[in-house]
Amino acid sequence: MKTIIEPFKIKVVEPIRMTSREERLDYLETAGFNVFRLRSEDVLMDLLTDSGTSAMSSQQWAGVMRGDEAYAGSPSFFRFEETVTDIFGFEHVIPTHQGRAAERILFSTVCRPGHVVPNNTHFDTTRANIEAAGAQAVDLPVPEGLVPSEPRPFKGNMDVPRLRSLIAEVGAEAIPLCMLTVTNNTGGGQPVSMANIREVSEVCQSHGIPLYIDACRFAENAYFIKLREDGYSQKTVKEIVRELFSYADGCTMSAKKDGLANIGGFLATNDAWLAKRERDLLILTEGYPTYGGMAGRDLEAIAVGLEEVLLEDYLEYRLASVRYLGEHISAEGVPIVQPPGGHAVYIDAAAFLPHVPALELPGQSVVSELYLEGGIRGVEVGTVMFGRKDLDTGEDIPAAMELVRLAMPRRVYTQSHVDFMVEAIVEVHRRRDGIGGFRFAYQAPALRHFTAVFEPLYQVGGPVPGA
Ligand code: F0G
Repeated sequence: MKTIIEPFKIKVVEPIRMTSREERLDYLETAGFNVFRLRSEDVLMDLLTDSGTSAMSSQQWAGVMRGDEAYAGSPSFFRFEETVTDIFGFEHVIPTHQGRAAERILFSTVCRPGHVVPNNTHFDTTRANIEAAGAQAVDLPVPEGLVPSEPRPFKGNMDVPRLRSLIAEVGAEAIPLCMLTVTNNTGGGQPVSMANIREVSEVCQSHGIPLYIDACRFAENAYFIKLREDGYSQKTVKEIVRELFSYADGCTMSAKKDGLANIGGFLATNDAWLAKRERDLLILTEGYPTYGGMAGRDLEAIAVGLEEVLLEDYLEYRLASVRYLGEHISAEGVPIVQPPGGHAVYIDAAAFLPHVPALELPGQSVVSELYLEGGIRGVEVGTVMFGRKDLDTGEDIPAAMELVRLAMPRRVYTQSHVDFMVEAIVEVHRRRDGIGGFRFAYQAPALRHFTAVFEPLYQVGGPVPGA
């Protein structure tokens, strides 16, 4: 059989609403052309994020009913803890309400001003939490990770020679931990190889630096290793995951991704003394250590989700459906980060709209047009999100890449939904010459992408060229 099917049948459905092009133009204008400001009911296919948007299984919903809401010592916690220990192999498991809470607890415990934390590429909350603790976050992606058109198997890897020079430059004492984000979200959802993880771990160990994994999409990364790395095709995903985490001293996890849950996360470590300090902080801001900011029912849903995410027919379908979207639009000439990532396809907006300069926000144009065309909501990952103003000269500095992320929620959309997405994206690409840029009408001093208001520099929704 050639067709890779969705390995589930559907028991509960949630209607999605078709809107007209006129309605969508109206919604866009009301939202100041910022899709974060749309109402999700007005979105047909929501590819804003794969975080917290998974469809839960019947077993997870059964877990929700089983959830025990005791303040302390709930059996739901022990089921959660046992599952996490079994899969990841760490001794101490600290539940948090989502990934960034785990980050805040970790970094505020181990980082001080003057410290430096390297990562293949920090996610924005990771960077912000390191900076909030007074330390500096440094990205060390491999050079091919920054070339969208180049297909390589492990573009999420860390640049090990640069890690060595960073350690030589600042000294191991200034590096309280090193991180690896699997898969590398900001770098295009690209996986990290086991060889790279092993090498980074050896470098860290030889300098006494603990290695932490940002584990959000650990199962997708492990399945890429099974498919692409020599020596792993006969191993089970669970064995690969065990090996991957055996090289690390701890991890942070957002269960909103590969936990297949709508909320939740955890922090894990083998260091008993550190875990004690982290639990003290947890009690202060998240909750008692046997629930830490989650309800008992959430702990149950995650315990089941972490088992289901390792099922290989699920992972085969998961990576195939993202690849399907990427390969179909790419075959029609739409430029994307190659190869497609584990959770998302990233359109290269700079190559999609070469006539729109970076400071006229080409990614913002692609995002607006995708919504207008098909009610599809993606997210700009370019100058809107990562550009900045030079405080001395007042000059606007563009981001390194102009990307638009189309993140696929887990187990939510079927192949015909993806076919529809392909048609809409290809149609926007066909009429790209008639699409112009945008400028900011309002921007907040930090994290401006969430609340910005934009003004188009062309007639959005104007006559469609060639129609
Ligand atoms: N690390 C990575 C790699 C992430 O992608 C995210 C979240 C987090 C940490 C933080 O986890 O949201 O549970 O606090 N990424 C989402 C996204 C928001 O859309 O990529 P959180």
